[in-house]
Amino acid sequence: FRVPDISNEPMRTYAPGSPERQALQAAYTQMEQELPFEVPCIVNGKRIKTGKTAKQPIPFDHAKHLCTYHEADQATVQNAIEGALAAKAEWEAMPWNDRAAIFLKAADLVSGKYRYKLLAATMLGQGKNAWQAEIDAAAELSDFFRFGVKYVEELYAQQPPKNSSGSWNRVEYRPLEGFVLAVSPFNFTAIGGNLPGAPALVGNVVVWKPSPMATYSNYLIYQILEEAGLPAGVLQFVPGNPPEVVGQAIDSPHFAALHFTGSTAVFKKLWKDIAGNLDKYKGYPRIVGETGGKNFHLVHESADIKNAVHQAVRGAFEYQGQKCSALSRLYVSSSVWSSGFKDQLLQEISKIKVGPPSDFTAFMGPVIGKPAFDKITGYIQKAKEAGGEILIGGTGDDSKGYFVQPTVILSKDPKSVTFVEEIFGPVLSVYVYDDAKYDETLELIDTTSAYGLTGAIFANDRKALLKATNRLRHAAGNVYYNEKCTGAVVGQQPFGGARASGTNDKAGSISIFYRFVSARSIKENF
Ligand code: ALA
Repeated sequence: FRVPDISNEPMRTYAPGSPERQALQAAYTQMEQELPFEVPCIVNGKRIKTGKTAKQPIPFDHAKHLCTYHEADQATVQNAIEGALAAKAEWEAMPWNDRAAIFLKAADLVSGKYRYKLLAATMLGQGKNAWQAEIDAAAELSDFFRFGVKYVEELYAQQPPKNSSGSWNRVEYRPLEGFVLAVSPFNFTAIGGNLPGAPALVGNVVVWKPSPMATYSNYLIYQILEEAGLPAGVLQFVPGNPPEVVGQAIDSPHFAALHFTGSTAVFKKLWKDIAGNLDKYKGYPRIVGETGGKNFHLVHESADIKNAVHQAVRGAFEYQGQKCSALSRLYVSSSVWSSGFKDQLLQEISKIKVGPPSDFTAFMGPVIGKPAFDKITGYIQKAKEAGGEILIGGTGDDSKGYFVQPTVILSKDPKSVTFVEEIFGPVLSVYVYDDAKYDETLELIDTTSAYGLTGAIFANDRKALLKATNRLRHAAGNVYYNEKCTGAVVGQQPFGGARASGTNDKAGSISIFYRFVSARSIKENF
C-alpha cells in the first residue's frame, strides 16, 4: 500500500461575491434557522439520549444556543469503555490499508461534502470568523487525517537495520493494551479530529470527551468518520461534565493513554490522578498533552518594522487571542518602538473590526464565554492596578455576546502578571527594551514565564536571530523567524511545546503516532 501524494488542503478565501462565500453563507443561514440541534452520546454506534442535558451556547448571541447535548452518565461511560474494548480485536486486525482508507475518505468528506457545515458550526459555536474557521475546520482537520495516514505508513515501515544470517528480525507496532481517552478543546475543531483520530489510526479504540463549547462541530466530525466507514465502537462519543466523564475513564483498569489538549491546571491534575491509579492499570499509561502558552515576539533593532507590526497584530488578535499559540508578550527594541512601531501598531489595531462571524468583514469575534470574558477583563484590571498603561482597547461588552476589544498594555515592569500568566484572550503586553540590552532581554524572555510553546524573532541581522535561537533553546517548541508565532501547518511545522506547555509530542508529525503504539520485536530463525 502506498499513500497517494499528500499535499496541504488549499484554503479558500471567501472573497465577496465568490461562489464559496455564497455556499458558506447559505450553510450558515441554514444552520442558524435549524438550531438548536440535539446531540446524543454515541456508544457502539448507537445514539444514547441520557436525558441529562446541557447547552452549547453561541458566544456572540445570549438569546440562542447551538445545541442541547446529552451528558454521558456513569452507565453510558461504562458502556462506552466496555464497547470500545469489545470492538478492539476486529479494529486491530483490520488490514492497515482499510484503516487508512477510512481516514482518507473522512479527509475528503471534510474538505468536500461537509466543508461548509463544519465551518458554520465552528463559526456559530466557537465564534471563529470564516477565515479562521477555514484554516481550522477545513484545512487543518483534513490535513490531520491525510498526513496522519502518510505518517503511520512511514511508522509501520520502520524496521531494524540488521538481520543475521538464518534469521529475520522484525518489529510490530501494536496498538496499546486498553483504550485511549481523548479530551479535546474548544479552540480548534481540527484538534477535536486529531485527538481521537491519531490513536484510532494506529489501531486503538478511543473514548472521546469533546469540549462542552465545541460539542456540535465535534459531533459532525464523529458523523464524518462514521460515514467514512469507521466501525461502531472504535470511537465512543461521550460529551458530558468534564471531571465526571474523565474521572471515570481514568479510574478504569483498562485506561491505557490520555490524549489531551486544554489547560495546564487540568492536565497536571489528571497526571497526578493517573499516577495515583498506577496500581490499578496493566501498564504505564501514555500521557500526551498540549496545554497553555505565554508566547512571545522579540523585535530586534534590525527588524523590518512594517512586517513586525503586522505579524504582531495577527499573532495576538486573530481568533481573539484564543489559540494556544497566540502572541501575548511582545518585547520591542526602543529604537524600533520610537521610530514608527508604536504608531503603526496602534493605527493597525484601531482599524480592527470586532463583530459576530456572520459579519464577514469582522477581523475579531467574541471570546468563548462568560468565564473567559471575566478572566480577560479581570487581567486588564490587574494590569492597570500594577501600573500598566492601556495604549488601546481595555474594554469589553457582554450585553449581547462576549466581546473584548483588542487591548495593548505597555508596562515598565516586565515581570508583572500579564507577562507571566496565560490570559487566553486579546490582550498583548508590551515591554520596550534598551537596544544595548539585547542579551538581558533574552534572559528575561526565557525566565519570565513557565511556558514554552511558541515564539518569534524579528531581525534582519542574522547574528541576532541565531543568538536568540540559541539562548531561547527551551522557551518555545515552535520558533518563527520574521513571522507570527501562530499558524503551524500540519506536515510543515510539527506543533507542540515543552516546559509547562505540554509533552511536546508534535501534532502534525510522525512523532505523535509513536506515543500510541507499543513496539514488539520478533526474531525468527529459519
Ligand atoms: N496550529 C495552530 C497554531 O499553530 C495550533 O496556531
